[in-house]
Amino acid sequence: MSWNNILVEKDGHTAVLTVNRPQVLNALNAETLLEIDKAVDELAADPAVRVIIITGAGEKAFVAGADIAFMSKLTPLEARDFARLGQRVLGKIENLPKPVIAAVNGYALGGGCELAMACDIRVASEKAKFGQPEVNLGLIAGFGGTQRLTRLVNPGIAKEILFTGDMIDAETARRIGLVNHVVPAEELMAFCKSLASRIASRGPVAVRLTKEAVNEGLEMDLEKALAHEADLFGLVFATSDREEGISAFLAKRQPQFQGK
Ligand code: HXC
Repeated sequence: MSWNNILVEKDGHTAVLTVNRPQVLNALNAETLLEIDKAVDELAADPAVRVIIITGAGEKAFVAGADIAFMSKLTPLEARDFARLGQRVLGKIENLPKPVIAAVNGYALGGGCELAMACDIRVASEKAKFGQPEVNLGLIAGFGGTQRLTRLVNPGIAKEILFTGDMIDAETARRIGLVNHVVPAEELMAFCKSLASRIASRGPVAVRLTKEAVNEGLEMDLEKALAHEADLFGLVFATSDREEGISAFLAKRQPQFQGK
């Protein structure tokens, strides 16, 4: 498959999806979102792929937001459709049956910060900067920022970021819980690939159902969420991965999971 705005590479059980519009700091227009949508569907369907890393091309940016030149021509209804498109694609990433790691290599602003927040795990380079600068443009966040940021970090901190449009550096993002790790820029991809391959070596169905238990549980009260967890715990007993994992432990050998 050839893409105009993204790159997709596979390496073992890990796929790397790179937003590839460095001339505009990887800003997201509708075409780019549609390519991400399609690529993510293909990666979800590929049994060899167990973990996906999303990053941005070039040294400067992960994604510097929705494409402002593209948005400048939108009518109100088109703007609503564009927000809905972004929300749909990011929602797909959030609920993909495989873990997704954001390797945040530079600016993650507006729609870029929102893309990173739709991923399961965020790792930032020391050079990364995060922000929701929409208010500087007289806009509000529209790809989920008002909701995901408020759920990921303390609502007061989220509101300050959303109301001021100010950028925060990678270390601040780590301190408030927006990113898990901050690493030197030149180590970012190796760090993310190593994390991805650790996750990929675990039982793929178990990882998938863990993601489902966490994501769906967040939308439920604790009692229902625990019942859901118990159901999924029962479901993994139907897998050959469970047999392999337990047999390997008892035989004191490394498990070879098939994802079945
Ligand atoms: C379109 C963008 C862009 C964007 C950068 N560029 N961000 N183009 N959309 N979001 C373009 C610039 O116009 C410029 O093109 C080139 O990329 C390099 O950017 P510079 O501004 O020259 O770089 P620098 O001075 O280093 O500043 C970097 C920056 C700044 C701080 C990241 O570019 C910036 O503030 N960008 C906008 C960030 C932003 O407001 N994002 C939120 C967008 S709203 P030329 O042709 O001049 O070389 C949003 C809404 C989401 O995301 C929800 C929608 C429903």
